[in-house]
Amino acid sequence: MKRFYLESYGCQMNVYDTQGLARMLEDHAFVRVAEPETADVVLVNTCSVREHAEERTLNRLAVLGRLKAQNPNMKLGVCGCMAQRMGAEIKKRVPRVDLVVGAQALPAVLPALEALDRGEKPGPQVEPLDHYLPPPRPRFDAKNLKGFVTIIRGCNKACAYCIVPTTRGPEVSRHPDDLVLEVHELVLQGAREITLLGQNVNSYESAGVDFPELLARCGKVPGKWRLRFTTSHPRDMSREVMRRMAAAPRLAPWIHLPVQSGSPRVLKAMNRDYSLEHYLDVIEAAREAIPDLALTTDLIVGFPGETEAEFEETVGLVERLRYDTFYAFKYSPRSGTAAARLPDDIPSELKQARLARLLVVQRRLAHEVNQTYVGRKLEVLIEGADSRRGHVLSRTGQNKIVVLEPQEIAPGTFRDAIIERAEGQTLYGRLCASA
Ligand code: SAH
Ligand code: SF4
Ligand code: F3S
Repeated sequence: MKRFYLESYGCQMNVYDTQGLARMLEDHAFVRVAEPETADVVLVNTCSVREHAEERTLNRLAVLGRLKAQNPNMKLGVCGCMAQRMGAEIKKRVPRVDLVVGAQALPAVLPALEALDRGEKPGPQVEPLDHYLPPPRPRFDAKNLKGFVTIIRGCNKACAYCIVPTTRGPEVSRHPDDLVLEVHELVLQGAREITLLGQNVNSYESAGVDFPELLARCGKVPGKWRLRFTTSHPRDMSREVMRRMAAAPRLAPWIHLPVQSGSPRVLKAMNRDYSLEHYLDVIEAAREAIPDLALTTDLIVGFPGETEAEFEETVGLVERLRYDTFYAFKYSPRSGTAAARLPDDIPSELKQARLARLLVVQRRLAHEVNQTYVGRKLEVLIEGADSRRGHVLSRTGQNKIVVLEPQEIAPGTFRDAIIERAEGQTLYGRLCASA
């Protein structure tokens, strides 16, 4: 019996892959441990989206490499997007790494470990981008309540700044029958909230089933549970999806719709594939169609050539649309992307200042938007008690945490709550008497 330790960085799809990797190893008589110090195999599933993410991971790998010096039998492996992108270069940067397995080739981890056991030195396992080997689907841990299902891998867009098409390849949608079965199994195992995942879920298409139809099919799985999806692309988010969301209480009223910039010129330079007018139309239609809709987004500051006035357009957009929350990132040039050929001409301190400015706006907006929830009755999913004061934590369909008084109530229960007050990002409420 061998012990493995697994760390995961990056997006939720990477978490899904990591759980699949864990299952693969467990199915082959490995046992998972919580500390790298006690493991025979240490694997890190990596993300390449920003340089900072890669640098942090390389530092972490160096730390894990030092551990290996004290435990010479330990095998250190790098999987995922960095492995796909950098291949053999990883071993040059961190010589103690034993195996490198790209995001397209995760099942190759097992034969690579066997080769190491035989004393061989396997080279990097990096499948071509159009040839993807899926790991097994993850095993669900019922105490999580939340299940994730990757429905589509890769991305066919070509955003000028983005490395994902280089690490994950073109889109590949999974068969709808497999997906409905996976959702059904998750619900039977105790999942109460399931999130369908993809870099662009809206372009899902397999066996004649498009994304709205997939939502309808998954939504028919019986039981008390809620369905979400992320990420949506403004170009492909259709009115049909909005209609389904409005008609099916199962579908959570939350859309994550990354805009990236409020400047028409920057959007074009980013090759985002939509105009600002189109984005605004989509938001207007969604808000009209779906009651109580929460909206979130991603933003990039300091894209090459972004002027102060263009940055102000982003601030203006955020103020105008009043997102429930957003994630803002400093532009990071990724080699091989179209934008990497442009000069990275916004100084780091200016990127930092723009980011800080957005975060101030975000805090104020989140507070203001959350005040509008006070007095409302919302359905919440009970998630469990916080460890400090015993408050019960619950989550609304809008993906907002509602803090409830300490009380006996089983995690996994759906109940109605009245929102009594809002502080910053957090809502506080009380449960309505059960029906
Ligand atoms: N597929 C999604 C998310 C992609 S990655 C989409 O289309 O929006 C998640 C977020 O990381 C992106 O939305 C973007 O805001 C950010 N991001 C991607 N590449 C980046 C880069 N090179 N520099 C800074 N932020 C980046
Ligand atoms: Fe990257 Fe654009 Fe694809 Fe999102 S849509 S993964 S940002 S290329
Ligand atoms: Fe990162 Fe790869 Fe996801 S680059 S964001 S882990 S697809």
